[in-house]
Amino acid sequence: VNVGIIFGGKSAEHEVSLMSATSIIRAIDKEKYNVIPIGITKEGNWMIYNGPIEKIENGEWEGISNKLLHDKPKENVFSIIPIGKKENQMQGVVPPGLEKKIDVVFPVLHGPYGEDGTIQGLLEMADIPYVGAEVLSSAMCMDKVYAKKMFELEGLNVVEYFVALRHKLKTHMDDYVKIIEEQFSYPVFIKPVNLGSSVGITKARSRDELIQGLNEAAKHDRKILIEKNINCREIECGVLGNDNPKASVVGEIVPSNEFYDYKAKYFDDGKSKLIIPAGIPKDKSDEIRKMALTAYKALGCAGLARVDFFLEKETNEVYINEINTMPGFTKYSMYPLLWQETGVSYNELVDKLIQLALE
Ligand code: ADP
Ligand code: DAL
Ligand code: MG
Repeated sequence: VNVGIIFGGKSAEHEVSLMSATSIIRAIDKEKYNVIPIGITKEGNWMIYNGPIEKIENGEWEGISNKLLHDKPKENVFSIIPIGKKENQMQGVVPPGLEKKIDVVFPVLHGPYGEDGTIQGLLEMADIPYVGAEVLSSAMCMDKVYAKKMFELEGLNVVEYFVALRHKLKTHMDDYVKIIEEQFSYPVFIKPVNLGSSVGITKARSRDELIQGLNEAAKHDRKILIEKNINCREIECGVLGNDNPKASVVGEIVPSNEFYDYKAKYFDDGKSKLIIPAGIPKDKSDEIRKMALTAYKALGCAGLARVDFFLEKETNEVYINEINTMPGFTKYSMYPLLWQETGVSYNELVDKLIQLALE
């Protein structure tokens, strides 16, 4: 089975993808699967990568890859995965010796262009099975506002929110500030609607910080989400499967920073703590696992997702925060660790996901 592992990508989570993909490529059963690593640069160039695995994370892979097409990033996509029948795929575009059909793709991409239905759409058109959620589901889960609307329809508890639009910030900033200050008290969370890894997210404690935060989020997205601050413990649950998904044990994140920002997620070596299983009462973890499955099904997920929750420290109220359809996947990431604790090792998990894609 030829497995195309796509990594990198154009989103702000490019580096995270390099880390996830490195772990997956190392772990994949090389006797069962023939790995074809395909990197996408930040500029959007697609390349076949034949070099050593350790040069992926530090970005050196770019210099030693075969460019599939040079100056026109947009064309690359259709050159590597031509639209049409399986037998036409990958012909004439891959370097000699690599002319293998791709049987299944593991798009190890986080954030926009990877987790949002766009690459999934491309793979659908190319008739190539892939790991993870399909187009609509990926798109809904990527968009924090649509996801919330779906959660609400299912009766799942979501954090109170407001949505601002980038194009109105210049002309309507005062109105926004007024509305937000009427609806919430400080601090508030400000987020780009479509991103991950906490990129562009700030916690504003004052009007000045609110304005700064809105402008910061607007650098990443045309839609901006403002949320009430929840004094919470952060609990996460892994879900695995297609039509009959299973929930893992739940884990807790104890961030090293004031909140689980980009630095706390990837750079404060070992200071953010992952506690698996989370030390919460069984009835709470059961409630959360049930909510995770409800959300997974409601949003039509497939393959895998990590569903993230806030547990209010005083009231014990559970809020669903978001679903990540391609969660961080390094050996030290929450999703695979949750499954390890539930009895599925990292290597088994990678295998299972590829099999689920081929189902
Ligand atoms: P991302 O998709 O980037 O992971 P999240 O919505 O999960 O975005 O927010 C990132 C982190 O910010 C969370 O893990 C949490 O630490 C903090 N956070 C986000 N929203 C809230 C909130 N409403 N109340 C308290 N903390 C929050
Ligand atoms: N968006 C990152 C990769 C995560 O959710 O784990
Ligand atoms: Mg998150």
